[in-house]
Amino acid sequence: MNAADSSVMRGILENRSFEFSENPEEADLIIFNSCSIREHAEDRMFSNLGLAMKKNPKAAFILAGCTAKRHGAKLFKRFPHLGAVVAPSELFSIGETAEKVLSGVAGIEALEGGYGFVPRHGGVSEFVVIQTGCDNYCSYCVVPFLRAAERYRPAEDILREVRCLAASGTKEIVFLGQNVNSYRDEKTGGDFTDLLARAAEIDGILRIRFLTSHPKDISAKLIDEFARNPRLARHLHLPVQSGSDSVLRAMNRKYTSADYLGIVEKLRESAKDVALTTDVIVGFPGETDSDFADTLALIRKADFDGVYVFKYSPREGTASFRMEDDVTEEVKKERLAAGLALAKELALKKREAYIGQKAETLFENDDVGHSSQNYLVFKKGAKAGDFGQVLIKAVSGFRLMAE
Ligand code: 5AD
Ligand code: SF4
Repeated sequence: MNAADSSVMRGILENRSFEFSENPEEADLIIFNSCSIREHAEDRMFSNLGLAMKKNPKAAFILAGCTAKRHGAKLFKRFPHLGAVVAPSELFSIGETAEKVLSGVAGIEALEGGYGFVPRHGGVSEFVVIQTGCDNYCSYCVVPFLRAAERYRPAEDILREVRCLAASGTKEIVFLGQNVNSYRDEKTGGDFTDLLARAAEIDGILRIRFLTSHPKDISAKLIDEFARNPRLARHLHLPVQSGSDSVLRAMNRKYTSADYLGIVEKLRESAKDVALTTDVIVGFPGETDSDFADTLALIRKADFDGVYVFKYSPREGTASFRMEDDVTEEVKKERLAAGLALAKELALKKREAYIGQKAETLFENDDVGHSSQNYLVFKKGAKAGDFGQVLIKAVSGFRLMAE
């Protein structure tokens, strides 16, 4: 989401004749786009921001993103060099804010904005935000507080952006939102699957991906779309967070492990070759050894192609912040390592099954691309924008090596 927001900000600024600099030490304006999801992300950003200010004291600085929203004007005290803080919902005001900061105005806080269409020149694969905010209030998560209520962009606006990107040479679109599969178009009443189907018809678009879905909103229609729509990439990222029903309840996730495995079964019946990835949090308050064993068992049953494992990080303002963070750091680390080891085993097994098989691949860069399953593919001599079947000869460090 931050990468998508950054490319929108870049598009807005380039339309105002700003020029992107590859070298932050020579830039006149430096924008940090920040993430608050875990404490570690914030800490790292603050130390990078301080460092960048030391290295280029003449530049103007803007802090955008969730951390800007979370700490607001307090940050001007901590970072006297900071000219503005811009919340995620105010992204579209970045043009005016940047001009003001460069003309010497300081202490600017979150102007009014809204989400919309930005004409921009696309690369081979581009993010398109279709939905902002989140209404789910998972008990550990700051997103609903920092990215506001769920809002959906009108389908016409989204499709206009996709057509514009396709005309500039983009071949793959990644629809993005905190909760894409609850998407609704107010004007037509169309749902997320309808949007996917319409985007797939746009000339020049070879492949569509989407991120992220919530298990409670996965419809039978969306699962069927994998079998029906050949342009839909064979990949679903579906965060499960835990395999223990009591932890899922405490997390306010609104499904059980059996519900989740039911979705997996239907998906594999509809389209066998869809890769499935997930997010898991270890060390949530009250998580016992047996809860964690349930998580490992679910990971094995679901036979994931990839698992992102995170140590629980208490976030002020969330419901679980009031629960005791009672899993020790040592146990969190052990569970993280065990989760990652299992994830690695499954990921390698899945990839090795492709040796001797063909994989439909889009090369975003020379030599490097992604298969429809979102596996990294390496093929010497491939050019950025190449698309087609490649023969997989070997697996090296999670990459498919192709001919
Ligand atoms: N602590 C640890 N992980 C978290 N995530 C969200 N909030 C937290 C938190 N407080 C993870 C979830 C989510 C992913 C983007 O980040 O797994 O799916
Ligand atoms: Fe956070 Fe849950 Fe919303 Fe995802 S669905 S952004 S984890 S509150």
